[in-house]
This record gives sequence, structure tokens and C-alpha cells, in this order.
Amino acid sequence: MPVITFEGKEYHCEKGETVLESLTRHGMLIPSSCQSGVCQTCITKAVKGTPPVESQQGLKDTLANQNYFLACICKPTEDMELSVADIAKQKISATVVEKTLLNESVVRIRLKTEQPLDYIAGQFVNVMHPETDVTRSYSLASLPREDFLELHIKRVPDGHVSGYFHDAAKLGDQLSLMGPAGDCFYTDRDLDQPLLLVGVGTGLAPLYGILRDALVRGHRGEIHLFHASLAVQGLYYMDELYALADEHEQVHYIPCVLHGDAPRDGEQGDLQQVLKKSKPDLKGWRVYVCGDPAIVNGLKQTCFMSGANMTDIYSDPFVFDVTP
Ligand SMILES: Cc1cc2nc3c(=O)[nH]c(=O)nc-3n(C[C@H](O)[C@H](O)[C@H](O)COP(=O)(O)OP(=O)(O)OC[C@H]3O[C@@H](n4cnc5c(N)ncnc54)[C@H](O)[C@@H]3O)c2cc1C
Ligand code: FES
Repeated sequence: MPVITFEGKEYHCEKGETVLESLTRHGMLIPSSCQSGVCQTCITKAVKGTPPVESQQGLKDTLANQNYFLACICKPTEDMELSVADIAKQKISATVVEKTLLNESVVRIRLKTEQPLDYIAGQFVNVMHPETDVTRSYSLASLPREDFLELHIKRVPDGHVSGYFHDAAKLGDQLSLMGPAGDCFYTDRDLDQPLLLVGVGTGLAPLYGILRDALVRGHRGEIHLFHASLAVQGLYYMDELYALADEHEQVHYIPCVLHGDAPRDGEQGDLQQVLKKSKPDLKGWRVYVCGDPAIVNGLKQTCFMSGANMTDIYSDPFVFDVTP
């Protein structure tokens, strides 16, 4: 049974237990959010011992080489001595400068940071609740050239952080955030490659950044954006997206609803079926899929089955913690 040394004390890690589970079981408070190796909130450094390679998924090589790892997916195979990573303590101060309801369940929050944040459109930041420090990930819909960070936050029933943003947050509130992180963003390695962007609900946030970033970088290939919701009331930014499609002939905006009539230029029906029908051959396409994790996983599969190369499929599943 591997022994974990943390803050001078030793803890035994049970068989199959992650470092995060073990430390939490022993009453230690380690920052965490998604519990599934996506958000990087639980980043930790092994100062002795080597973390398993799979616990370093998604980390930059420079961090992995320094023995940083994600505690929530690390099942240690040897004794390790840990310190909560310095980078997890590197908080950036931000102020709420705008709060606008985009539809009945999505609020747009704009933040201004003290120092400009070095990020790529489509990445996400980890935002701390100003009173409880509970941390959640939110994707960046803004472009680095804009002088604010833009988040689209869906209200989750009884949600701690989303509830704060919808109900309590007001202009001037001070927050801390960490990041950026994530590898779901545009690169200009092939300006003519067709792009398929698919998002459900606030999955539009990173895609709105990615789409505009691609245009700024001179992307010439077709860009098809499918934004889906249960009903038309769940869609947002329709005017902005119709305008982008009018302005750029390679941009196609396809709003999709499960119930009710199809919106202009859009589709009605199950998103998987809509995609299978309208994009039966995705050979050579680059695909970005964002939003609800179950839907994202299904869509990735669909796109792969339609011919997209797995290395050309980028995704941002909005994973959340389901532990009670
Ligand atoms: C990389 C990444 C990017 C993300 N980007 C965004 C974004 O741009 N916009 C956005 O709105 N969210 C985004 N999320 C989700 C976000 O981080 C939070 O999980 C979400 O806001 C809920 O947090 P909360 O504190 O309000 O709810 P919690 O207090 O954590 O949860 C309250 C209850 O609701 C359940 N729950 C939590 N989330 C959901 C859900 N989505 N559906 C159903 N039940 C749920 C929990 O299990 C719990 O029982 C992202 C997540 C990740 C990992
Ligand atoms: S990556 Fe560990 S809690 Fe999200």
C-alpha cells in the first residue's frame, strides 16, 4: 500500500484509491472540482516519487517533467511526498465588470483582471467563489485582444458557484481565478481545413471564442457552427451569429432545437441525427465539440464514425462532480 507524505504526515493509500480520495478521507482539504482529470484544479507536485503517467494527462510537458500531476486521477504505484503545486496557489485577481442575462438560464459575466491573462480563445479558467473559495471551471468566450474575460454560465439547480453568479454577483465584486488551461482551441496549421463546431447550451462559450479566433487568424476553409438546445428559448447570441454568417461567406450558423419549429437556417430534431444527416462525411474535417459531457462523448463518436480523424477532434466536456 503506497504511503503519501503530505505536510509532514504520512497517509496510507488504499488499493484503487486516488491521492485526492485518500487525502480527503484523512480530512485534508485539497482544492478540486471535476474529479475526473479535466479542470486541473487539483494539480499537485510530487517532490519525491514518480506519479503515474496517466495522472499527468492534459498537463503541459514542462509541468509533467517537473512531476506535477492531477490528484483526482492519480492512483499511486509507489510512495510519494507531495506539495500542493505552487501554480495552484497562483491566483489572478479579477473584478466583475458586466452581468447580462443571455436567456432565462444563462448569464454572461465579464471580468477584468489586474494583469492581462495570457490565453487562447476557447481555453477555460478556474474561478473561485469569493466567499467560500469553491472552484469551478468556465470557458472563455472572449478573445485575448478584448479587454475583458467573457464567461457564459448556466444556472444549475442548487449550484454553488453558478448560483452565486446568477443571484448574488454584482458589478465590482472581486474574484480570484486560476489558469488558463485546456487544449480545445484553434490553431492555424491549415487555413483551408473545414471546421465543424458543435455546442450544446453554454458549450457555445468556447466555440464563440474559437470561431472568432479562426476568422481573426485568416481561416479560409468552411466553418459550420451547430448550436443546440431543447427549445429556441435555450439558444442565445443568435443575432451575433447570424451577423457573422452574413459577414463571412465561409461561416454557416445552424441553430438546432429538439422541440418546436426549426429556427431560420436551422434544424429541428436530435442533434446526433441532425449531424449524421447533414454531415455524413467528415473525412478531412477538424471538429470541436463542447458542453454537456454525455452529449460531447456521443457526438465525438458520431463524428469519428463519419470519418473525422480522432486527432482532429477537440472537445471540452463540461464535467461536473457527482459525488454527494
Ligand atoms: C473544462 C470545463 C469547462 C466548463 N465550462 C463551463 C461554461 O463555460 N459554462 C458553464 O455554465 N459551465 C461550465 N462548466 C461546468 C462548471 O464548471 C460547473 O460544473 C457548473 O457551473 C456547476 O457548478 P456549481 O458549483 O454551480 O454546481 P454544484 O454546486 O457543483 O452542483 C450542484 C448539484 O448539481 C449537479 N450538477 C452540477 N453541474 C451539473 C450539470 N451541468 N448538469 C446536471 N447536474 C449538475 C451536481 O452533481 C450537484 O448535485 C465547465 C466545466 C469544465 C470541467
Ligand atoms: S482535474 Fe482534478 S478535480 Fe478536476
